Amino acid sequence: MLPKTLVQMVDDRKEIRIRAARQEDLAPVERLLVATGLAPDGIDDHLPTILIAEHEHQIVATAALEIYKDSALLRSVAVDPDVRGTGVGKRITMEAINLAQRLGIDRLFLLTETAGEFFPKFGFRVVSRVGIPDLVKSSIEFTSMCADTALAMELRL
Ligand SMILES: CC(C)(COP(=O)(O)OP(=O)(O)OC[C@H]1O[C@@H](n2cnc3c(N)ncnc32)[C@H](O)[C@@H]1OP(=O)(O)O)[C@@H](O)C(=O)NCCC(=O)NCCS
Repeated sequence: MLPKTLVQMVDDRKEIRIRAARQEDLAPVERLLVATGLAPDGIDDHLPTILIAEHEHQIVATAALEIYKDSALLRSVAVDPDVRGTGVGKRITMEAINLAQRLGIDRLFLLTETAGEFFPKFGFRVVSRVGIPDLVKSSIEFTSMCADTALAMELRL
């Protein structure tokens, strides 16, 4: 019998697990972000709210929240190119939204230059930066990481 490919294996939901990241996950998370074209800057400041998707012992996706009082920034939603299109991105994004809800977040924001058509699937809407809380706008994403042309989006929870 032919060995299963990684994609076939992660397609089976039972074989992929989403969990909170641990300290030792930070280096592979940063490597995945760089490999997917996202900047890892400042991610290590948010370890308690980083989620990872793991297949066997390999990290195949990440998503993280930066908490700013009752608002939060969803960042670093990234899926290993080898396993895209298998639903992992949707699953980890939903888990991050659920985590925000459990933490009592009212407004969830994000900036994206590459996935403006992906996040509306979860109810995110494009918003003007004007109405975004200053604390969120003081984040590294707003001040230096993301281009001014990045779309700002919001989900009301
Ligand atoms: C965006 C991303 C996270 C999606 O991950 P994925 O695992 O391939 O997504 P899924 O398999 O769960 O796909 C879910 C749906 O989103 C769609 N989709 C996937 N990537 C998309 C993108 N970049 N833009 C728009 N739609 C996208 C799929 O077609 C699929 O649609 P369907 O449900 O109607 O069939 C992944 O492409 C990625 O890591 N991109 C690079 C990093 C990035 O841009 N992150 C977002 C900014 S923080």
